[in-house]
Amino acid sequence: MRKLLNLSVAALLLAGGVYLYAEDEHEEHEHHASSFVAKPMSKQEKATVLLYQKECGACHFAYQPEFLPKRSWDKTMNSLNNHFGTDATLDPSDHKTIQNYLVSHASKNDRMTGMGGEIAMRISETPNFKHEHREIPKKMVTQADVKSFANCASCHTKAASGSYREREIRIPNYGSWE
Ligand code: HEC
Ligand code: HEC
Repeated sequence: MRKLLNLSVAALLLAGGVYLYAEDEHEEHEHHASSFVAKPMSKQEKATVLLYQKECGACHFAYQPEFLPKRSWDKTMNSLNNHFGTDATLDPSDHKTIQNYLVSHASKNDRMTGMGGEIAMRISETPNFKHEHREIPKKMVTQADVKSFANCASCHTKAASGSYREREIRIPNYGSWE
């Protein structure tokens, strides 16, 4: 039993995706947790996730591709030389691999795009995200141990494994959210 449990956790980690996110209706999180099944990954897919985490996790948390739609990732990948004030340019082969990975796992939910028809480049500025985080007092976000909503993993303790469950949230200096 224990072995089985460990195996499924390992599968989750390697899945590199989000398994608790409201793709369709944000009021139905509980259903997503139970309906999730980790698909086994091929060696090549694992290598791609590791490449993504290494390259796009160098300066910040490696955001799961499921949090933005295709056109957001395309826009991001087509402007890496001017990426939020930094240069995140990749070599052409890695660039292609990562863009394909992001696009093929992108959200199909149009509500994840920005307001006013603009293509969102920040997850933290999508209407979905704002809705989920509307009750969090500003001081909990701007404090030195978090800085901005871009730092998902500072509050979501299991974010790296793709889990955003409420009971796993610990806001630095404030504690759990319940
Ligand atoms: C050289 C450093 C660097 C690298 C490498 C880098 N980024 Fe960023 N990225 C940043 C900075 C700086 C920000 C703005 C962070 C903030 O506002 O706190 C950012 C923000 C983001 C955001 C918006 C987060 C949000 O919701 O507010 C996304 C999405 C993103 N990066 C994707 C990527 C992807 C995809 C890659 C790999 C191709 C990548 N980044 C590589 C520096 C980097
Ligand atoms: C300041 C802490 C903080 C940061 C930073 C943060 N979140 Fe959250 N997040 C929360 C809290 C608290 C909730 C629950 C809000 C509520 O229920 O009212 C939440 C809810 C969520 C949910 C819904 C989970 C559920 O089951 O209801 C998702 C998904 C999520 N966050 C993803 C992200 C992502 C992705 C990032 C980074 C781009 C991020 N969060 C950054 C605190 C944070």
